[in-house]
Amino acid sequence: MKSFLFAISCALLVFAGQAADLTGHWVASISLPHGQTRETSLWLKADGDLLTGYMSNNQGDIAISHGKISGNEISFEIIRDYFGEERKAEYTGTVTDEGLVLHMPAAGGRGGGRDLTFKHVSNELPKPLPPPPPKIQLPPAKDVPYNGLAKTPPMGWNSWNKFRNKVSDELVRQVADGMIRNGMKDAGYIYVNIDDTWEGTRDEQGNIRPNEKFPDMKALADYLHSKGLKLGIYSSPGPKTCAGYEGSFKHEEQDAKTFAAWGVDYLKYDWCSATQVYDYHSMPAVYAMMGEALLHSGRPIVYSLCQYGVFHGPQWAAKAGGNLWRTTGDISDNWNSMSHIGFDLQLDLAQYAGPGHWNDPDMLEIGNGGMTDTEYHTHMSLWSLLAAPLLAGNDLRDVPSNILEILTNKEVIAIDQDPLGKQAKRVAKDGDLEVWARPLANGGYAAGLFNRGPATAKVTARWSDIGLTGKAQVHDVWAHADRGVMADQFSADVPSHGVVLIRLKPEGK
Ligand code: GLA
Repeated sequence: MKSFLFAISCALLVFAGQAADLTGHWVASISLPHGQTRETSLWLKADGDLLTGYMSNNQGDIAISHGKISGNEISFEIIRDYFGEERKAEYTGTVTDEGLVLHMPAAGGRGGGRDLTFKHVSNELPKPLPPPPPKIQLPPAKDVPYNGLAKTPPMGWNSWNKFRNKVSDELVRQVADGMIRNGMKDAGYIYVNIDDTWEGTRDEQGNIRPNEKFPDMKALADYLHSKGLKLGIYSSPGPKTCAGYEGSFKHEEQDAKTFAAWGVDYLKYDWCSATQVYDYHSMPAVYAMMGEALLHSGRPIVYSLCQYGVFHGPQWAAKAGGNLWRTTGDISDNWNSMSHIGFDLQLDLAQYAGPGHWNDPDMLEIGNGGMTDTEYHTHMSLWSLLAAPLLAGNDLRDVPSNILEILTNKEVIAIDQDPLGKQAKRVAKDGDLEVWARPLANGGYAAGLFNRGPATAKVTARWSDIGLTGKAQVHDVWAHADRGVMADQFSADVPSHGVVLIRLKPEGK
């Protein structure tokens, strides 16, 4: 029946030289494991060259604006309220023999940058959008006591950046074996974190089950533990995760207990569809609910908040029981994304970091191929200065030696893991040139001389900017070389997009 309708609609739509009639209900469906699907609908009304209607998906219904039709081409905008801020995404589409091929905007969330094909399923006109359902408002939460974990920023691996929905039990075991073989584990990378797309359905008692990619989560945890590694998992406070899988909404305590029973050591809890059910002003209380549940789960579980730093996240995340919290949207494997997140979006956050509680500028992209080695050195240096969690996001089964050298440099990792736990601040900026510095537990300092510009440039770190008095011995961390005792500053030629990372030992200390 569907294909009959589709054939008719195609015949009607792609009639040479005529504007396509777009009116009706269009559906794009993506299959997920366990017979789950992720559907996006477009309800459209064409009126001359004007297009109106709305889009529906697991994030709710949202009206389209400025919709236009020109022959077989369409365009429209979707304007969202992003935690009190207006966010606009522009869509374009073409009516083809296959259906309506919509180009999803790169900044527009799931599937961004990709084409999604919608099939015409009926001529039904869009109904007026119902008023949005009332959202849950929770009373303010009591502070969740500190769980005693993550005294230094967590280190490990996460499946998302490289593998997206391709993560499986088999892959996780192979990655773990790789981490032991290639020295990542010895360098301190301990957590092996499964991100989104492991989730199956719930049983009759409401217990969450993994999908067929993970036949036995407990056995997987046992395997990792037997190798001295730890298991991390992922869920959402909403009904669905960002990728459209089962979330923990109304099952918080039950899921925390299930995770503990499986032997999970780390939970990343990603806001996503929680927007549909909760008033976002309740976000601290929503996160505290899982924070409490983990505390009473019977197992020490590191708690990683993923709410992109919205609604002043860093200010309350530790009180909700968080050991780490994302400070930005998702990182991508390119210079603009990494440098914008690492430099521009981490200003003024140092005050919230300390042993047990860390700002998280997102997982590493080192080794994923979208940046040069110079840029990956900057990525690693900056994250270490920021006392950021170091969660490798590349394929650790087979790592080229140049990438392994960046990820496992002991001196750089020692800066990240310094027990004082003080996150670096930007202490100087001159156009594209920046100096970031942090004090270390031994009375010394670590500083990064960064060049964000297009050509090699001389960068100077001044002791007065760093807060250091007297002379200091300078050690170049990546070069493994001492640079002598300097009276009041140190200068270096830094390549475009590069860094010179130094450790400073004040004389007499
Ligand atoms: C969000 C998070 C990512 C990843 C995906 C999974 O976008 O910010 O880190 O967990 O969801 O769907």
